[in-house]
Amino acid sequence: MAPLKKLLHISLLVLICASKVSNTEAEAEAEALVGWKSTLVGANSLSSWSTTNSTCSWFGVSCDAAGHVTELSLPNAGLNGTLDYLYSAAFLNLTKIKLNNNNFVGAIPANISKLLTLTYLDLGSNNLAGAIPYQLSNLPMIARFNLANNHLTNLENSKSSPMSSLKMLSLANNDLSGTFPQFILNCTNLRMRSLDLSGNAFSGPLPDSLPEMAPRLRYLNLSVNGFYGSIPRSFSRLQKLEELILRRNNLTGGIPPELGMISGLRILSLGSNPLGGSIPTSLGQLQLLQLLRIRNASLGSTLPPELGNLTSLKYLELGENQLHGGLPPSFARIQTLLFFAMPGNNINGTIPTEMFTNCTKLEYFDVSRNLFTGSSPSHISKCKKLKVFVVSRNFLTGSIPSHISECKELVYFDVSENLLAGSIPVGIGSMRKLQALFLSKNHVAGNMPSDIGNATSLQFLDVGSNHLQGELPKTISLLVNLVALDLSGNKFTGIISNHGSRQLPVVKVANSTDSSSFSGESRSVFCGLTLLQLLDLSNNELFGDLPGCLWNLKDLQTLDLSGNAFDGEVPSSTFYNSSLRSLHLSSNNFTGCFPVVLKNFKYLVVLDLGDNKISDVIPPWIGEISPSLRILSLRSNMFYGSIPSQLTQLPHLQLLDLAENKLVGSIPESFVDFSLMRHTFVMQPSVTIDIPKWYFYNGSMAIIWKGREYTFKGRHAFVTGIDLSGEIPSGLTSLRGMQLLNMSRNNLTGYIPKDIGNLNLLESLDLSWNKLSGPIPPSVSNLMFLTTLNLNNNLLSGEIPTGSQLQTLEDPSIYGNNLGLCGPPLCTPCTKNSSSTTPPVDGDHEHEAVWMYYSVIAGTVLGFWVWFGALFFCKIWRFAFFNCIDAMQRMVVHKMERTS
Ligand SMILES: *[C@@H]1O[C@H](CO)[C@@H](O)[C@H](O)[C@H]1NC(C)=O
Ligand SMILES: *[C@@H]1O[C@H](CO)[C@@H](O)[C@H](O)[C@H]1NC(C)=O
Ligand SMILES: *[C@@H]1O[C@H](CO)[C@@H](O)[C@H](O)[C@H]1NC(C)=O
Ligand SMILES: *[C@@H]1O[C@H](CO)[C@@H](O)[C@H](O)[C@H]1NC(C)=O
Ligand SMILES: *[C@@H]1O[C@H](CO)[C@@H](O)[C@H](O)[C@H]1NC(C)=O
Ligand SMILES: *[C@@H]1O[C@H](CO)[C@@H](O)[C@H](O)[C@H]1NC(C)=O
Ligand SMILES: *[C@@H]1O[C@H](CO)[C@@H](O)[C@H](O)[C@H]1NC(C)=O
Ligand SMILES: *[C@@H]1O[C@H](CO)[C@@H](O)[C@H](O)[C@H]1NC(C)=O
Repeated sequence: MAPLKKLLHISLLVLICASKVSNTEAEAEAEALVGWKSTLVGANSLSSWSTTNSTCSWFGVSCDAAGHVTELSLPNAGLNGTLDYLYSAAFLNLTKIKLNNNNFVGAIPANISKLLTLTYLDLGSNNLAGAIPYQLSNLPMIARFNLANNHLTNLENSKSSPMSSLKMLSLANNDLSGTFPQFILNCTNLRMRSLDLSGNAFSGPLPDSLPEMAPRLRYLNLSVNGFYGSIPRSFSRLQKLEELILRRNNLTGGIPPELGMISGLRILSLGSNPLGGSIPTSLGQLQLLQLLRIRNASLGSTLPPELGNLTSLKYLELGENQLHGGLPPSFARIQTLLFFAMPGNNINGTIPTEMFTNCTKLEYFDVSRNLFTGSSPSHISKCKKLKVFVVSRNFLTGSIPSHISECKELVYFDVSENLLAGSIPVGIGSMRKLQALFLSKNHVAGNMPSDIGNATSLQFLDVGSNHLQGELPKTISLLVNLVALDLSGNKFTGIISNHGSRQLPVVKVANSTDSSSFSGESRSVFCGLTLLQLLDLSNNELFGDLPGCLWNLKDLQTLDLSGNAFDGEVPSSTFYNSSLRSLHLSSNNFTGCFPVVLKNFKYLVVLDLGDNKISDVIPPWIGEISPSLRILSLRSNMFYGSIPSQLTQLPHLQLLDLAENKLVGSIPESFVDFSLMRHTFVMQPSVTIDIPKWYFYNGSMAIIWKGREYTFKGRHAFVTGIDLSGEIPSGLTSLRGMQLLNMSRNNLTGYIPKDIGNLNLLESLDLSWNKLSGPIPPSVSNLMFLTTLNLNNNLLSGEIPTGSQLQTLEDPSIYGNNLGLCGPPLCTPCTKNSSSTTPPVDGDHEHEAVWMYYSVIAGTVLGFWVWFGALFFCKIWRFAFFNCIDAMQRMVVHKMERTS
């Protein structure tokens, strides 16, 4: 295609040359433009480019009085192609080329530098690549030069001339590297107003000499690069500067107080640098400052009261630092303030009420994750424009501001994780714009007000972990925009199924006799909330049958009903498009057979049916539930029969807990196939719950609550015994990724295998309460990561091995109640008589391997408290995060309770 195009073009050129003699200059320009057009793809926007008409009438072309082309202005014209044939010697009067926002590819041709009349060149937002030809720096009159948003890689710095005519230079968002471009610093340029090098890979120090070379800069953006060293104090001599944007570099050495001398500064953005130090009081002198953004910059000072003098400030963002001390009341003087954010600091004291006495402009207020005490600010009802109010994770007392409903613009309200008591204020229902209400982890009591159903914009409602009680108001069913609903950890009671409503004759539906048919169940409070992605009702006092219509919520990803008193069979469903990833039904009173509905959940990652009264065999189709299943707990039910070998078809299973059931029979041969067990390094599993990005803030500053990453570290083991028998397969020593092995409280006999030291990632080994005999193999001391060891209540004998890691495990009880162990840390010294019954050498090898396999399988079957590779990893949005962590913690805490 390309060679063909070239050929076409060459023949075209020949054509042009052949006819040139008779052409006027204007015609030559026309021919040149048409020639270039012919190399472009999809040049529909250039349909007016025809030699039958004057170039001056063409789309995007401007001429001077003499009919010469002076401007080529084709931004956003849908042009594809290269710039290779743009230049022509015919353009004698061209001053302006604007080709931004097209799809030009390839390199920038050096011959553009021959357009000596050019003052304006904008090639931004294309797909240009390669080096920026140094010849362009020779354009004698160039004033505006924009190459931003391309893939340019190289600035031919050493050959570039100083561009003394430049007023505006943007190379932003390319792949340029190296130190600060030298050509900018080689001569004093009194015209330069705007310099944007952001979004590249420049590194090295910021040039001290910049104020000498470009003393009239108004706009300087060097953000998102790798510049390091300190912010030059000399920058204070950039006396015309209005915007200084240095965020996301590697700048250190604090904020120079001299920046307070740049009196015209309107925007100062220094965040995401490891700056350190304090906020200079001098910044309070910046009378015109509108935006001060120094987030995540390791600032460690108190907040200077002088910032209260910033009487033009609209946007103040100092989050994620180590700021401490109180919030100065002087800040209340900033009446222009619209956006106030200081989350993630150590600010203490009360939130000054003055902040809210004259807050007519305030739209955004976030002081979450600080050390604020005192009562929650009751004056915020005076902030009529308030959209976002976040004070979560402080130590605020008192009640939820009672007049909050007077803030009619409020979209996002988060007071979670404080010490707030009282009840949910009435009038919440009148907040028609409220999309997110977070009250969790406080001491809020009373009922859920039924007018909540009027707050129909709500998408996120979290009242988890409070002392709320009573029945859930039926009006919750009106909150049809809910995406996440967390009512967990309260004392809500009542039934959520249609069971109750079925008794009302008015809602009786013809075929609703079968409790699992959903036609009769759509009246359940939750089943009409069709956008729900997360529903957490766990740890309440809810009871009754489960409404089968819950399974029809097609976007539901997390459903946690654990820790209630639901009973009956888990209903079935004919709906197969479930998105469910995490299902917790544990600690209820479910009975009946293995829930057939699980066949519908093809994306499950976590399934917890533990602590119920389900009585059935484990069906073979369990191996086909969901290829993504990582955590499966069926513990403490009444499952009987044998363990289906199909479990090994679950390729990502990491935790299998079958303890406390009535399972018997042999160990499936194929258990050795658990693929994750064999690898030392496992891809980090993640439960990702995609709650849509959440925008608020109606204006130019869109705030996105980004997903956060949290690591879950739980390593607590438990086991109780069940009987196993039968043939034991071989091939077990390959399971080297094992980190935790618990086989306690079984009837294991024989010896601890000599090569147990090969499981070199093992962190926890519990073999207690068995009938193991013989010595403790010396290879145990090779387990470099071992932090937990328990061998008590066995028949072990002989000298306790010593060695690096074992030295740290000095609690004698871990060896207690054995037949004849001796040596430290026990007080029994070793004598000749205390030598153990050494395991027979001959023919024992096989026995040992066999034992080992048995043990691991026993561990597997009894709980599989074996974490492989990376620990469980949650990468989710906060709401889901709480749910996920809570669920995991519940699992662990639960298990710890059982162990102790
Ligand atoms: C032009 O490029 C864009 C972006 O690569 C592409 O989507 C479009 O299809 C192209 N148009 C033509 C006519 O090739
Ligand atoms: C040439 O200009 C005339 C008059 O302005 C117009 O009617 C005609 O459509 C143009 N031709 C093309 C090919 O644009
Ligand atoms: C166009 O360029 C030519 C050659 O440089 C020059 O002689 C002429 O004066 C220019 N025309 C205008 C209107 O600037
Ligand atoms: C810019 O100045 C430096 C040092 O003064 C010099 O080494 C370099 O050659 C100069 N570059 C140009 C393009 O003038
Ligand atoms: C930042 O600078 C420090 C030294 O000042 C260096 O060790 C570190 O690697 C740099 N970080 C980045 C991301 O460039
Ligand atoms: C700035 O604020 C401080 C304390 O809030 C005050 O003492 C000082 O006089 C103010 N300075 C100016 C120039 O207004
Ligand atoms: C706030 O913290 C500082 C230490 O950073 C401490 O000196 C001060 O007493 C605290 N104030 C209150 C009200 O707790
Ligand atoms: C509130 O603002 C008004 C007018 O802007 C002003 O007169 C009044 O003094 C301010 N009140 C406080 C407490 O700052």
